[in-house]
Amino acid sequence: MSPRRPAPWTLLLLSFATFSAASDLRSELTLPGVSSFFPGDPGYANATRAFNLRFTLEPVAVLYPETVHELANIVKIGKANHLRVSARSGGHSYVANGLGGENGSLVIDMAKFTNITVNPSTRTAVIETGNRLGDIALALNDYGLALPHGTCPYVGVGGHASYGGYGFTSRMWGLTLDNILSINLVLANGNITKASKDINPDLFWALRGAGPSFGIATSIEFSVFPSPASVIVFQYNWHLDVEKAATALDTFQKFVVQPSLPPEFGAEIVLTRGAIAGNVSFGLTGAWHGDPSLLNSTVAPFLAAMPPLNAVTFTGGNWIDSVNFLAGSTLNTSSAPDYTDTFYAKSLMTPEASPMNEAARTAFMNGLAYEGFTSNTSWFFQVELYGGANSKINSVPTDATAFVHRSSMFTIQFYASSFNNAPPYPDAGFKFLDDLVGGITSNSPKGWDYGAYTNYMEDKLVDYKQRYYGSHYPRLLALKRKLDPTGVFDFPVGIDD
Ligand SMILES: Cc1cc2nc3c(=O)[nH]c(=O)nc-3n(C[C@H](O)[C@H](O)[C@H](O)COP(=O)(O)OP(=O)(O)OC[C@H]3O[C@@H](n4cnc5c(N)ncnc54)[C@H](O)[C@@H]3O)c2cc1C
Ligand SMILES: *[C@@H]1O[C@H](CO)[C@@H](O)[C@H](O)[C@H]1NC(C)=O
Ligand SMILES: *[C@@H]1O[C@H](CO)[C@@H](O)[C@H](O)[C@H]1NC(C)=O
Ligand SMILES: *[C@@H]1O[C@H](CO)[C@@H](O)[C@H](O)[C@H]1NC(C)=O
Ligand SMILES: *[C@@H]1O[C@H](CO)[C@@H](O)[C@H](O)[C@H]1NC(C)=O
Ligand SMILES: *[C@@H]1O[C@H](CO)[C@@H](O)[C@H](O)[C@H]1NC(C)=O
Ligand SMILES: *[C@@H]1O[C@H](CO)[C@@H](O)[C@H](O)[C@H]1NC(C)=O
Ligand SMILES: *[C@@H]1O[C@H](CO)[C@@H](O)[C@H](O)[C@H]1NC(C)=O
Ligand SMILES: *[C@@H]1O[C@H](CO)[C@@H](O)[C@H](O)[C@H]1NC(C)=O
Repeated sequence: MSPRRPAPWTLLLLSFATFSAASDLRSELTLPGVSSFFPGDPGYANATRAFNLRFTLEPVAVLYPETVHELANIVKIGKANHLRVSARSGGHSYVANGLGGENGSLVIDMAKFTNITVNPSTRTAVIETGNRLGDIALALNDYGLALPHGTCPYVGVGGHASYGGYGFTSRMWGLTLDNILSINLVLANGNITKASKDINPDLFWALRGAGPSFGIATSIEFSVFPSPASVIVFQYNWHLDVEKAATALDTFQKFVVQPSLPPEFGAEIVLTRGAIAGNVSFGLTGAWHGDPSLLNSTVAPFLAAMPPLNAVTFTGGNWIDSVNFLAGSTLNTSSAPDYTDTFYAKSLMTPEASPMNEAARTAFMNGLAYEGFTSNTSWFFQVELYGGANSKINSVPTDATAFVHRSSMFTIQFYASSFNNAPPYPDAGFKFLDDLVGGITSNSPKGWDYGAYTNYMEDKLVDYKQRYYGSHYPRLLALKRKLDPTGVFDFPVGIDD
């Protein structure tokens, strides 16, 4: 149906309409039972504070619906007013995408959606998307069950499960999104629907890797696992110069592809500032979920090929002890407030078929040992093991989910905060990380097929379509045009034209 031509007298009213648009919107969005914050309200600044204080955004409103119908109604109002609508779950997006990633979005905070319903006999759990990872781990642990996910207890399941969800159990159990059975969601037109392998299968595919561009998930049904009986968190550390650190990274690359490496071995290389210019602190940190007596023999081939250790610690316990230890804080997020940071982060997913060569590794370690030593930032880099032998992540067929990276060896996270974790962010911090990633890619073979991780989203990634979504972008775009033609769920690095 074509829109009706406006009667001439309505044009006279147009300037008045624009003038009063803000108050109209406010009254349209003032819904019984839904708390809200509008610009100028006390509490608006708190409600719009990003986790990354590098971003200050001004949404048109932040609303806290309590029911799916209220949420759907808000989406319809947003669409009718040509607003971009954004869900916020844990608010931990690196680029404030829970606030829409740019000014003027309508934010739907999921905080009231905190139900968790566990069915121990089917080993499934329906988790509403206002929940944080720490609270989810506690709730599942009451049943002796667990889900693979990241370590920070305050991260929300809404963003985490949309884009990946990596933890030290992921080589054994896959990413968080690999364990989704179905998703209840609201579409851009306000329809309330469900997606699973049988219901809206195309949408189900898209939601697991690019969810925020397609809908607002209200609850997610997961298959969950019996918790491992014992977990040992291990931390080995070396102080190495550039050449030795570059070699050590290769030693790790060779170690992880040995066919016998068990899936119960989850690990990352942690790189931090060295004690002197020209050195780096090189750590192997991870969690062992198998028979405790087999950890040493599993790591032995790696240690044998490395220089002598500077330090090692083992922290053993049961499953929830390990989750708690890795969190470094309380898992119950209502018992203590969250923190904020001011930072820039990047990621690089290395292809297993073409591990980092010597020139790339040397450029990487050189950057850390010199530019990193004098950098006006506090930084850490994590070389997370996604692949290697027997990895569940890479056993999933590439086309099974929109998450495209099923043949990466590592996801390297580059993370640099301002020194006092507060604004302003120093310009040199951008240059430091851009130089590092540039040093790795420019020293790699032409056409090196690297990716970037959507959960470590960055605002300055120019080739984001290729790096985040790869060969899946065209299929995602076709579906986006069908389900959200007016871009209700658009944001700066999402799926759009
Ligand atoms: C301290 C810290 C530690 C981290 N550790 C890990 C880790 O160990 N492993 C790992 O994989 N990642 C990790 N991350 C990254 C984290 O997974 C992402 O930042 C994640 O997207 C955050 O989700 P959120 O719900 O908290 O964020 P939000 O900012 O609320 O949301 C992120 C994006 O998802 C969208 N979204 C949120 N809820 C919904 C919903 N219900 N439906 C549809 N879209 C939604 C938002 O609109 C936004 O685009 C970490 C992040 C931080 C800050
Ligand atoms: C600020 O917002 C947080 C949630 O993001 C909330 O828990 C807290 O109570 C708010 N503080 C105030 C003073 O309103
Ligand atoms: C959003 O608006 C605020 C306040 O006007 C401004 O400081 C900020 O730079 C804007 N952000 C973007 C991404 O435009
Ligand atoms: C959450 O669970 C409670 C109790 O089971 C129920 O009353 C409520 O409707 C649920 N909330 C939602 C949003 O489903
Ligand atoms: C967290 O603690 C609060 C009380 O402070 C309690 O009501 C809640 O059930 C706890 N949550 C979990 C997941 O254990
Ligand atoms: C929205 O829901 C209605 C009624 O359930 C259905 O007829 C329609 O096809 C749905 N539209 C979309 C885009 O899913
Ligand atoms: C620097 O690295 C060298 C070579 O790996 C090592 O022998 C030395 O102990 C390191 N020095 C410091 C202070 O870390
Ligand atoms: C494992 O090796 C460490 C040294 O890396 C040693 O301290 C520990 O006793 C060993 N544990 C077992 C069970 O052999
Ligand atoms: C380092 O950055 C902080 C802000 O994060 C700034 O206050 C300080 O002056 C900077 N120092 C140098 C030496 O650049």
